[in-house]
Amino acid sequence: MARPSGRYSSQSSPAGILAITSPGPGVRVPPAVEVRGLTHSYRVGDRPVTALDGIDLTVNDGEFVAVVGPSGCGKTTLLGVVAGLLEPTSGQVSVLGGSSASAREARALGLVTQDPGLLPWLNVTSNVRLTLDITGGFTGRGADAGERVRELLERVGIAQFARYFPGQLSGGMRQRVALARALAHRPRLLLMDEPFGALDELSREEMRLELLRVWEQERTSVVFVTHSIREAVLLADRVVVMNGRPGRVMAEVAIELERPRSALLEESPPYRDLVAQIRNLLSAGADRLDPLRSAEQGAHGA
Ligand SMILES: Nc1ncnc2c1ncn2[C@@H]1O[C@H](COP(=O)(O)OP(=O)(O)OP(=O)(O)O)[C@@H](O)[C@H]1O
Ligand SMILES: [Mg+2]
Repeated sequence: MARPSGRYSSQSSPAGILAITSPGPGVRVPPAVEVRGLTHSYRVGDRPVTALDGIDLTVNDGEFVAVVGPSGCGKTTLLGVVAGLLEPTSGQVSVLGGSSASAREARALGLVTQDPGLLPWLNVTSNVRLTLDITGGFTGRGADAGERVRELLERVGIAQFARYFPGQLSGGMRQRVALARALAHRPRLLLMDEPFGALDELSREEMRLELLRVWEQERTSVVFVTHSIREAVLLADRVVVMNGRPGRVMAEVAIELERPRSALLEESPPYRDLVAQIRNLLSAGADRLDPLRSAEQGAHGA
């Protein structure tokens, strides 16, 4: 199905926005992710540790949602449940209209974590190609797997290193390969857990823009976990703000900034306002967890 372009630009027509949920008479595109009342507890010894408590989250088809929150608030746990790697303790999770397990079986998910996890004995092409081989080959639009891999390496800006081995690449290059690998089988939902966290600021900036370009073309639904508020606002259609212990969703902020976006956006007042708004939300959440700090600020009239 061809997806409408510019759907999330602030200038999208109401008809364009409607097309996301109503692609044709009688056809309903389910949300990429629908989480209701999700609780997840780990067991530490004989004690349960509640990582997520009553999470509600919807990611619409083709939407880019960023998740921010303090360390330990359950972001990775949330992605793990959506990816079907962890079982919910209670609540409902639907992924692409079915269970997480069926989405995984259908190879509809792509996962990128902070550690690129490439196989050191395979070169760049083979690392990306492996996903296609494991998922039973590439069956899309007449192109063969080799062509798909070449196209992806081109798209993430690493084509000239196709024959290099992971040990011969920089961290940023490895992360590009990991992104190409996650996209290789055209996942309908991309789950990204701080994928650029280990990169220096410049490589990180480049990767953000690369990801934006790729997303504009692939139009995959994305859940993107990050510690960077600026990154979240630059990339996402919506930012979900969590707070912790146990992890809850405290707010959702719609990012109604025009697309396509570029680094220039970071100079614009609406962008800065959104960054400040989310920073304030996070800071209010931190105060809630630290009564001493909020009492101190209250005493100083902050
Ligand atoms: N395997 C585990 N066993 C027990 N407790 C765990 C396990 N994994 C995570 N936790 C706990 O669950 C909570 C949420 O952890 P999680 O890794 O999801 O947080 P996070 O938001 O991703 O943090 P960060 O930003 O540091 O990556 C934390 O209190 C953590 O200690
Ligand atoms: Mg984490």
